[in-house]
Order: sequence, then C-alpha cells, then structure tokens
Amino acid sequence: MNSQPDRTPSQRHSRITGTGSMLPHRRVSNHELAAQLAERGLETSDEWIVERTGIRARRFADPGVNASDLGVGAARHALEAAGRSPEDVDLIIVATSTPDMVFPSTATIIQRKLGIQGCPAFDLQAVCSGFVYGLSVADAMIRSGSVSCALVIGSEVFSRILDFNDRTTCVLFGDGAGAVVLEASATAGILSTRLHADGQHTEILCTPGTVSGGQVLGDPLLKMDGQAVFKLAVRVLDEVAREVLEDAGRTPADIDWLIPHQANIRIMQGTAKKLKLPPDRVVVTVDEHGNTSAASIPLALDHAVRSGQVRHGETLLLEGVGGGFTWGAVLLDF
Ligand code: UT7
Repeated sequence: MNSQPDRTPSQRHSRITGTGSMLPHRRVSNHELAAQLAERGLETSDEWIVERTGIRARRFADPGVNASDLGVGAARHALEAAGRSPEDVDLIIVATSTPDMVFPSTATIIQRKLGIQGCPAFDLQAVCSGFVYGLSVADAMIRSGSVSCALVIGSEVFSRILDFNDRTTCVLFGDGAGAVVLEASATAGILSTRLHADGQHTEILCTPGTVSGGQVLGDPLLKMDGQAVFKLAVRVLDEVAREVLEDAGRTPADIDWLIPHQANIRIMQGTAKKLKLPPDRVVVTVDEHGNTSAASIPLALDHAVRSGQVRHGETLLLEGVGGGFTWGAVLLDF
C-alpha cells in the first residue's frame, strides 16, 4: 500500500480537509500518578518521567468511556472543520488497539453514533502505526475512485490495558482520539506513503492475552522491552522518512513540520536531528498527552492546526512506529 506520485494532471488525489480531536477530561499529572504508584510500593518521579520521555501528564478516560466515544467526538470536530456532514462520509477507518468490543468493529459503532449507514467501515490494527496505515489505505481507496470522502480516526483507551504494577510502562501511555476528513481532490494533498512491518519483533511490544471459551487466556496487559523498541524506532523512522521524501521528489529541507508518533521526546528529537530539521519544526504533544498509540499523530496534527502552528499549504511529514513491529510515513501538502 505504498503510493508514489503520478504527476499526470488528470490523476485523482486525496487531501485532508478537516482535523479534529477529543481528549478525556481527567488529566493525570506525573506527580499524581507517582503518588498512586507509591501506594502500590512502586517508586517513580516526575523528574524521571520528564527526563526519559518528555511526558508531564496524560488523560485517562472515565469508566464507561470507550474508544468509540472519543472517536466519534474527534470525527464530529473533523467533519465540522471540513464543512461536511456525516451523510457526506463514504468510508470510515478506525485505527485502534483498544476497541470497544472483540467485534463488531469500533468503526461500525462510530458509524451508528454518527447516524449514518451503508458506507464501508472497518478497524485497522497496526498499534501505534495505525493512523499512518489508515491514512495510506484511505488515500489508495480515494485514488482508485471507490470513495470520495473518508473519515480516518485514531482512538485509544490504553489506560484499560496498562499494568499499574509495572512502572516501566504504565507511566508512558494515555487515552484520546484524533481524526481527519480525507477527500478526493484534483491537486495532490497526500504526496507519498510507505508502510512496513516485521513480525519477527512481536514480543518486544505486545498485549498477549486473548479471549477463549469465555475466559481471558494469557496476560491482557501491555508488555514492552523499551530499549529494544527505542533502538528499532530510531532506525526505521529515519529510513521511512527518506523513502517518502524520495518517492515524492522532495528533500528534508522541504518539510515544514514533522509530526511523529508521540512516544518519547528523545526519539522525536533524534529523528529531527538526523533529517537536519530544527527542533522547533517538530510538533510535540507528548508532554500533555503521553503516548496515545494510534491517536497520537492525529491528536498532534489537530492540536497544531488549531493552535495556528500548521497552516494550509505547508508540507507535513507524519511518521508512526509501534507494535508488530510496524512503521510507516505519509508526506503531504496540507
Ligand atoms: O508506542 C510505541 C513505541 N514506543 C516507544 O517508542 C517507547 C520506546 N522506549 C522508550 O521510550 C524508553 O526505552 C523508555 C522511556 C521506555 C525507558 O527509558 P530508558 O532510558 O530506556 O530507561 P531504561 O529502561 O534503561 O531504565 C533505566 C532505569 C532502570 O533502572 P536501573 O536498571 O538503571 O537501576 C529502570 O528500572 O530506570 C528505571 N525505571 C524507572 N525509574 C523510575 C524504569 N521505569 C521507571 C520509572 N520511574 N517509571
């Protein structure tokens, strides 16, 4: 599902026409989380978390608030920004690893909450790379002519799968949703996309539990070998950035904003440095959101658009990396 630009003038393209997001209202600071973990006999501190990750706080959804609730909120804001109504949507893709149910998909639940029916709607499971995977699939479907107005949503309630007895992972993640409206366009918005996976690395980042015979088999909580993920992430994010730039005939100097998966400020800064991008060209929301997996890129994009950082006509590089191992990038003119 990798796209390279065909510069034929009549070619059908896709373009982001609106962004939106939704965060749970409950903000949990590092200090608050550290105090909660101390009650369990685990030692951590605001200082450690900020220094190693750049995270200062995250949002946790209240019980009963699911991925579809956050996702539909983000979708409504994106539709409003695009000047579209739910009836205009002819494709819904939801990237999530924390769906409402085993089935049906969170995408069909969001479709129902939007009050529409008939269009294809499906979930896409690529963990933290899910949003760039979803954007790439929607771009291909639009360019093929099969759809014209897609909602691509990343929505997660990672707080549900965190092990609050494991300080090496539970301080890193948060909940939230981001969405874009991607529409057919005569001019290129999305310039190039690249997706990758390497299933040899399943164990370094996984939630191994599964439902069987009415019971949860295996551990349903997140496990991560942080250092192994860190090393792989730094390498593949640089490689995939260069791939999409080359495909589009652009160079790092053409990038106005790098909007990477928000996992760790050190990984983001490392990627920018390798591309010789100044640190102030990187959109950073990990400080307030933590790692929201498939939601982190559209959340960061919407934050940057609404705060006036990202403007129309600018070139954005979106990059994701996560469990699987999966990774990918999308280069686009906004
Ligand atoms: O979303 C998918 C992509 N995910 C990522 O990109 C995550 C990639 N990995 C990372 O971001 C980093 O590896 C972490 C933030 C997870 C960890 O940072 P690190 O610098 O690699 O720390 P470390 O694992 O080497 O641990 C250093 C020390 C250890 O203690 P010792 O062995 O040196 O005594 C840990 O036990 O820090 C300790 N530690 C903590 N201390 C206080 C680990 N977690 C904590 C904690 N508070 N929460």
